[in-house]
Parts: sequence; C-alpha cells; structure tokens
Amino acid sequence: MTHRSKAITLSDVSATMLLTLYCHARSSVAAPPLLHDPESLRIWQALQPELAGSLDPLVKRLLSNGIPELAVTYISARARRFDRYARDFMDRAPSGTVVSLGCGLDPRFSRVDNGSVRFVDLDLPDVIALKHRFVTESERYRLLAASVTDPHWLDHLTEFQGQPMLFLSEGLFMYLSEADVKTLVLRLQKHFPGSELVCEVVNRRWLDPRMYWLVRLKLRRQLGLGPDADFRFGIRHGDELQQWGPGIQLLDEWSFLDEDPRDIGWVKWFAGLDVFRTAQWIVHYRLN
Ligand SMILES: C[S@@+](CC[C@H](N)C(=O)[O-])C[C@H]1O[C@@H](n2cnc3c(N)ncnc32)[C@H](O)[C@@H]1O
Repeated sequence: MTHRSKAITLSDVSATMLLTLYCHARSSVAAPPLLHDPESLRIWQALQPELAGSLDPLVKRLLSNGIPELAVTYISARARRFDRYARDFMDRAPSGTVVSLGCGLDPRFSRVDNGSVRFVDLDLPDVIALKHRFVTESERYRLLAASVTDPHWLDHLTEFQGQPMLFLSEGLFMYLSEADVKTLVLRLQKHFPGSELVCEVVNRRWLDPRMYWLVRLKLRRQLGLGPDADFRFGIRHGDELQQWGPGIQLLDEWSFLDEDPRDIGWVKWFAGLDVFRTAQWIVHYRLN
C-alpha cells in the first residue's frame, strides 16, 4: 500500500483508477464533452483538496494536468464505448444486471441507469471503501469489495442466476495473470451461462520483453503509474478466448481507431493498420 496523500492509501494497481477518473472529469469539461460525466467531475473535484500536496508521482501528474491528451481521449472514448455496450444490453434486457469488474471510482451507473437495471460495482476493498464516500447504494445499485480472483464474490450474485447478465471489464484484465483471467472467465461462464462479457485487452505482442520497455515507458514516464501497476495479460486475437472452452463465443470487437476523427484526431490515420487497431482494444463475448 502506498500513501497517495495523507488521507488516501491505495496500492499501485488500485491507484490506476485515479487516472481514469481524472480523464473522465477532464473530458467532461471539454467543449463539446467527449464523455458527459458530471459525477466523475464532482468526485474528482471533491478529492482534489485531499490529494493536494501529495508527493506521489501519479497524483502530482494528475493535479498538474500532465497527462497526454491522447491518453485522456482514449480513456474517455473507451468509457463512452463501454457505456454503449451497457445501453445495448439494457435495450435487450431492461431489468437485467450489469456487473462492473474493477469499477474504480467510475460512476457508470449514473450515466447509464434506465430506471430498472440492476448494477453491481466490484473492486478491491481499498477502492470500494473510498467509493462508499461518493455514491449511495440502493435496491438496484450495489458495491462489492472483493478481488475478482477470489471465487467467493460470486456467492453474492446467486440471486441473479438464470437472468440476463452483462460483465464489464474496463482497464482490468491487463493487470491480472493469464491464469487468473482464464479462471475468472470460466467461473463466470459456469455460474452465469448465457451471460455476456465485454473486456478491454492489450495485445500480447507488447508484453514480449523486447517490446515491454515501451509499455513501461508509457505507464511510468507518461502516466506516472507506480511500479506494481504492470501489464501481465494479453491476447493476440479476439477469438483466442474461444479456445478456453466450448461455448465462449466472440460477438464483436471495438478499436479506439473506429471512433469519429473529430473525436480522436490525427491517430485516425492509423485506423487501417492492425498493429495499432488491436494494440489495446475491446472484445465482446457470449459465455454460453
Ligand atoms: C485502470 S482502473 C479502471 C477503473 C474503471 N474500470 C475505469 O475504467 O474507470 C483498474 C481498476 O481495477 C481494479 N482491480 C485491479 N485488480 C483487481 C482485482 N484483482 N479485483 C478487483 N479489482 C481489481 C483496480 O483497483 C482499479 O480500480
């Protein structure tokens, strides 16, 4: 555990959610906003006095607006795309359940709530303790403090078995080992057959030691993330997870480079190159 400030103690991996919160808040004040997220702005502004004066490299970078614009755009466009996945699911299952794995302080429920969906936010205990200060649980909205690697958190969802379920994993799988991701996916499939999983993945190509120095440069120097926030899991192609077990079905994929050039700017030029399209992207599965 590292002190991000006098009042806030988070592990390096947990602290990555300060970066995504900051990006959502910053995008919300852009004109026009890439992501309309007044709640992230409120939470970020409420945290600022507690973070002020921190010597933590990530916090210092966030408070000085030192995050590259492209990272802000990517993280916000990806959140907007995950919101769309949630809305598409709710169009098909208005009273279904959405589970946000590794939710951080992201107030997605406030952005997508249709008045009948049930929503579960799950993250590590240090993050959920902080999140409790900013959101209110209700009959339809619940916080769960657990590691996704711990099988027992699934016991809290048994009431939803047999009903439409969507699991979202945004900015999470890359911080886990392959064994942990595989065990988790197979557990979700076993407990919730027919459910959907939308997950962000990085390309395994970047995890090769000959390439990983570039990733490390980005994580440490550009973003200021701590030494334990390392990428560990990646895949080469979206259909790879289908080999983990019968019934896992790839539905679709999304690349940041698919977005409107008015939103993502000059990087749109690289949209035709697979090496960039699938450097870090979103994959959508059904777990039959
Ligand atoms: C990059 S942040 C993403 C937060 C949020 N999904 C978003 O996009 O704003 C990664 C999140 O994954 C959480 N996380 C990492 N390992 C986890 C685990 N084993 N179980 C549950 N959450 C985990 C971290 O605590 C952190 O909140």
